[in-house]
This record gives sequence, structure tokens and C-alpha cells, in this order.
Amino acid sequence: MINIKNASEIEKMKRAGRVVALAHQAAKEAIRPGITTKELDEKIRKVIVANGAIPSFKDYNGYPANACVSVNNVVIHGIPSGYKLCEGDIVSFDIGAVVDGFHGDAAATHGVGEISQEAQNLIDVTQASFFEGIKYATEGNRLSDISIAIQQFVEAKGYSVVKDFVGHGIGRNLHEDPEVPNYYTGRRGTRLYAGMALAIEPMINVGDDEVEVLEDGWTVVTADGSLSAHYENTIIITKNEPIITTLL
Ligand code: MF3
Ligand code: CO
Repeated sequence: MINIKNASEIEKMKRAGRVVALAHQAAKEAIRPGITTKELDEKIRKVIVANGAIPSFKDYNGYPANACVSVNNVVIHGIPSGYKLCEGDIVSFDIGAVVDGFHGDAAATHGVGEISQEAQNLIDVTQASFFEGIKYATEGNRLSDISIAIQQFVEAKGYSVVKDFVGHGIGRNLHEDPEVPNYYTGRRGTRLYAGMALAIEPMINVGDDEVEVLEDGWTVVTADGSLSAHYENTIIITKNEPIITTLL
């Protein structure tokens, strides 16, 4: 069942989204060679709590940290650890917060110091694919219009879209219906209506689309060891352009 959010619920989603955006800003500013992913997780937690919100990933299905911090070939769900960022790494933050019972969820990938041209292109294409997708995120369109736009943009650049993980509806729960694939599944998907809230989150690999989950049960890596980037925002469908709750 897809929940349609009313005006007061949308207001709460904007508040949650703003906290997520502030945590992203702090995490990005803290990036430097030598900082551990655990230290970054703690900075994220502090911003979320200082703004009256709760980190929504903590303990979600047993997830052991506040945010996901995924380096290089880690696609998503990197668990913060003692790993120290190195010059040339790319690092993705995936952050969720809940305010007054409503969620925001967003991810972004950044370089650590100087990074290769290939890594920068991957980051840029991943972010741009989200914005290509949301050109179609308008009442009356189909969910697959978003998915197809993301896939076509990414594949035209020579990268691949991860298929094993998808975006999702969001609201009172971190994950709600519908699933939001970043590729065409062969189905048109639901029609979009004003008040639908979606977390759209392309996960893009330099190599092929195959991924593996490590023994910890969380960490998703590219099977071929290639670099991967992630970009996500929470949006709300309207009759015109969508509201993006997780950007400042
Ligand atoms: N943005 C991710 C998602 O939508 C975050 C979930 S990580 C978890 O699935 F730890 F909360 F599971
Ligand atoms: Co998400």
C-alpha cells in the first residue's frame, strides 16, 4: 500500500530531511585523510541528535551504527570502523533521521583529497542520474519513467546500475511501498500521485552490476572490485516539480 502524505505530514518530512542534510554537510566538511569512518559516524550522530532527531538506521534490522559509510568498492551499507580514509579514496555517506515520526533518507559520495578523473566522473554521473530521474517525478507519470531515465543516462556513460538494491517509498517508516528500481524491470510501475514520498537512490558501478554481501551480513561490495558511488534524496511528488526534502 502506498501512503499519500498530507500537508502536515509533508511538513514533518521536510523537518526530518533538513536534519539529514545538515548531517551530510557536517560529514562532508569532516572528510580528511586519516579520519576513521567511525569518527565520521559519531559526527553524524551528534548533528542528528543536536537537531532534535533520531538516527533511523541505528538498530534497523540490527544495523550496528548511525550511518552507512562506504569506501571505494563498497556500494552501500559500509559499517563505520577503524578504517582511516586515504587521499584518493571515495566515500559515500548514507544518513537517515526521524523527526516527529517521519523519516528523511539521503546519500552522497565524495572524494578524499585529490581523486582520479575516473572516480570524479563516477561521482558526477551518479549524482546527475538522480536529477535525470526526477525530471519525470511528477503526478501522472509512471514510476518506470524515473527508473528508465536513470538507467539510460548511466549506461550511456558506460557505467552500470546496481539491480540487487533499489530505492523505496518513505514516510512513517524508513522503507515503504513502492520499490523504486534504478532500471527498467519490464513493468511500468505505479502511477505517481501528489503526496507520494520516495527515496530515489541510484547505486552506480564503474564495472559490471554484480554485487556481493560480505560475511558481516551488511557490507555490499562490487563483485569485480570496481569503484561504486551512491546518491540519494527523499522527494515528495507534486503536480509540478517534486519537493526534495533532504537538500538544504
Ligand atoms: N538508504 C538506505 C536504504 O534506504 C539505508 C538503510 S541502511 C540500514 O535502505 F542500516 F538502515 F539498513
Ligand atoms: Co534509502
